[in-house]
Amino acid sequence: MLQIDPLKRPPNAELELAGSKSITNRALLIAALAEGKSTLSRALFAEDTLAMINCLQAFGIDIKHDHTTATIAINGSGGELETPQKELWVRQSGTTARFILPLSALVKAPIEVDGDNQIRSRPQHDLLLALNKLGVEIAHNGEMGHLPLTIDGSNLTVTDIDVSGETSSQYLSALLLVGPCLPEKITLTLDGNAVSTPYIQMTIEIMKAFGAQIDSSKPNSYTVHPTGYVGRDYEIETDASTASYFFAAAAAGKGRVVVNGIGSNSIQGDLEFVEILQQMGAQTLIRPNSVEVTGPTRLDGIDVSMKNISDTAPTLASIAPFASSPVRVTDIGFIQHKESDRVTAVVTELQKLGIDASIEDDGFLIKPGVPTRGIVHSYDDHRIAMAFTVLGLLSEGVAIDEPNCVAKTCPEFFEYVDTLRLEGDEQLDILAIDGPAGSGKSSLAKLLAERLRLEYLDTGAMYRSVAAEALSANVDPKDLHAVAEIANKTDISFEGQQVFVNGNDLTEMIRSAEVNAVVSHVAANPGVRAVLRRAQRSWARQRGGGVLEGRDIGSVVFPRAKLKVYVTATPEERARRRSLESGRSIEEILAEIQGRDEIDSSRADSPLAVSANAIIVDTTGKSLDEVAEEVLRSFNG
Ligand code: CDP
Repeated sequence: MLQIDPLKRPPNAELELAGSKSITNRALLIAALAEGKSTLSRALFAEDTLAMINCLQAFGIDIKHDHTTATIAINGSGGELETPQKELWVRQSGTTARFILPLSALVKAPIEVDGDNQIRSRPQHDLLLALNKLGVEIAHNGEMGHLPLTIDGSNLTVTDIDVSGETSSQYLSALLLVGPCLPEKITLTLDGNAVSTPYIQMTIEIMKAFGAQIDSSKPNSYTVHPTGYVGRDYEIETDASTASYFFAAAAAGKGRVVVNGIGSNSIQGDLEFVEILQQMGAQTLIRPNSVEVTGPTRLDGIDVSMKNISDTAPTLASIAPFASSPVRVTDIGFIQHKESDRVTAVVTELQKLGIDASIEDDGFLIKPGVPTRGIVHSYDDHRIAMAFTVLGLLSEGVAIDEPNCVAKTCPEFFEYVDTLRLEGDEQLDILAIDGPAGSGKSSLAKLLAERLRLEYLDTGAMYRSVAAEALSANVDPKDLHAVAEIANKTDISFEGQQVFVNGNDLTEMIRSAEVNAVVSHVAANPGVRAVLRRAQRSWARQRGGGVLEGRDIGSVVFPRAKLKVYVTATPEERARRRSLESGRSIEEILAEIQGRDEIDSSRADSPLAVSANAIIVDTTGKSLDEVAEEVLRSFNG
């Protein structure tokens, strides 16, 4: 469960958010089919895109990804796909499930496709019908019209077909994407009352960027020529659906948010969400490469169709209670088939928080109100978790029961949310103390906390606690995923000098030689850092401030701390102090802390470094009192 700390001040932030999921997954598939190499920049790394990458790799595609630079390099197959040796697993990804089915049909062999329970419940019927018309054989291994399925394209014959877009426009997109690699040209006719049509345009734009020829001059008719694709370097836009939460927070929080990497030439329909905010009274500015939203003093209600941008309907719902008149959303009945039944989910959770919300024929109606405290159920749906986080920023006491589902499309979501809190964090009484092992920062921090009548947090003890839990669970401390999972499940509390981890007193254990040996590896794990950073920030916000001691407090956890101190001492002095405390030899300790310094200073995520505006205090040869006086003068001055 994650308690959402409300905004204490209107947000004022400029954000670099992650790349678009929809564009990343389309570009990945196209680059896999293309002739030659492609490099995707600002690519999204999330559950849904990793699902696509893994499926494409099963077709023999050479894909290399670098999370730190957000790039993916793909060696295109020129349309020559290998037969996957095992079933394709799409996790929970709707785009992967849909796009991979026609791709599988290009291979002349039976291919099994399956995924998590959630995706099994989502409909594929209309896409399967279309594939059937092309001679593709489909065996249902579960419920009709759903995954798991076996696709066999041995008898695929190109013929012009109708495709229904009433449940999802992804069916048409999926077929369009493989069009250039079919032996002949194909005309697809969109049938019925299609939803989310901007995504079809997005598909076409990306296809064209990779050399495809599509004739879409007649309404609802798309002729794709058998040109194949040509690999290229391609920059992905920032995700507009993810950006919607931040625009909403600015609009309803009377603040200002700028999102970079998306703008007037965007191919993402969801950017239209800012027009809704504008109609509700927000000021919006769409530049070529950034979008800015400024909230009004009073947000108006609205009556709006969200048929084309339904993924942002929960976002609108999250700020609807704060509008001065009701918000009605129409034409989104089909979102009951998304990761959750989103209309019901949104209305149920708002009602739980005391808001007058109701389900209508094809949408919902939300009346103004002040949400009460409560725990929101996320239905394992990233958009519900993210939307209600926005609501939690704007009212007191909201918690999300399972926040980790945001990893589906935005693993860094809560880190981005914290940038909205920077203005509020500036008001806190934070004394940030950083430094290497044995520099004397713990004793200093404790003394200063006492003198300043603030509480003290030893963040190193938190990293040590996770390391201890990983050791006792027999998990390899370098296994990033497994250790991050442990961090997520570790409840750490302090009582005086004692440290309780999941209810057990681990005060001694976390200082053991075993923990010393692995803690820096555990602390270099970005997943662990994200969880503990969140807890550290929340700890201080709940107390109006505090003395926090660690390696990245001034640089990352509270970059706007009232005072930042970097405490240091020569390695020999530090080893001598530790030796006096523990009775171990100076040489042994020197080797250990130098090893730890090296890992702490060289890791990619939050390395130990002197942060901007920190005062540097060398404690070599000084008494604790002398050092404390020096720091107090700066804090009070
Ligand atoms: O007690 P000592 O100064 O040796 O270290 P600590 O403060 O207990 O921290 C133990 C380890 O946790 C450090 O070596 C770092 O690897 C890590 N740590 C961190 O990465 N970030 C923090 N804010 C605090 C500790």
